[in-house]
Amino acid sequence: KIEAVVFDLDGVITDTAHYHYLAWKDLAEDLGIFIDEKFNENLKGISRMDSLELILKEGNRQEDFTSEEKEELAAKKNSHYCELLKQLTPKDILPGVQELLTAIKAEGIPIGLASVSKNAMTVLNALNLVEEFHYCADAAKIANSKPDPEIFLTACEGLDATPSMSIGIEDASAGVQAIKAAGMFAVGVGESLDEADYLLKDTSELVWELIKVSFANRKN
Ligand code: BG6
Ligand code: MG
Repeated sequence: KIEAVVFDLDGVITDTAHYHYLAWKDLAEDLGIFIDEKFNENLKGISRMDSLELILKEGNRQEDFTSEEKEELAAKKNSHYCELLKQLTPKDILPGVQELLTAIKAEGIPIGLASVSKNAMTVLNALNLVEEFHYCADAAKIANSKPDPEIFLTACEGLDATPSMSIGIEDASAGVQAIKAAGMFAVGVGESLDEADYLLKDTSELVWELIKVSFANRKN
């Protein structure tokens, strides 16, 4: 019996991964650093400060700022991101997600959230989805970003679920690695997620009956 399903947020439930990208791109350009969508793949699933470090490294500017200045840069990106979030409504829930949540809930399986974003609750509120989740891991209490399994393990613990009997859903390579490192079954949504146990092109393919079949046929 499946004990829990744990969702990533940005890029799985809604396309906030794109808003993160727009906000980082803007900040990077102010610093004379150019990033594209391909580079942005590396930023998915990792924390705000780790993302900033990767961008500064890309522009060879890591040594140019004090840690206070880095905090300011990260805060500037975040306020731009929060501005973008203001347009978010329940219409922005990605295709297939609401149906999937409803199907899981109908079987009484606990649903969790494993997002390293400190804005996760703001996003869930804007989408009117808070009630769907039995447990949301608190990003502020997580010491290690994905690909470390910490946040997925925390979510399983919060749901009282055994990781090996639980499913994680991710759009980022670091996230799929985190799910696997937690010993869970990984559903990957998107491209270049070869480590996933079950790989889908986009969220419209998130069909509960098919996910259950692939979980039942998993190789350990
Ligand atoms: C993750 C995103 O969900 O949250 C990352 O995939 C983002 O791109 C991270 O950097 C941290 O988000 P926030 O909202 O705390 O800056
Ligand atoms: Mg994501």
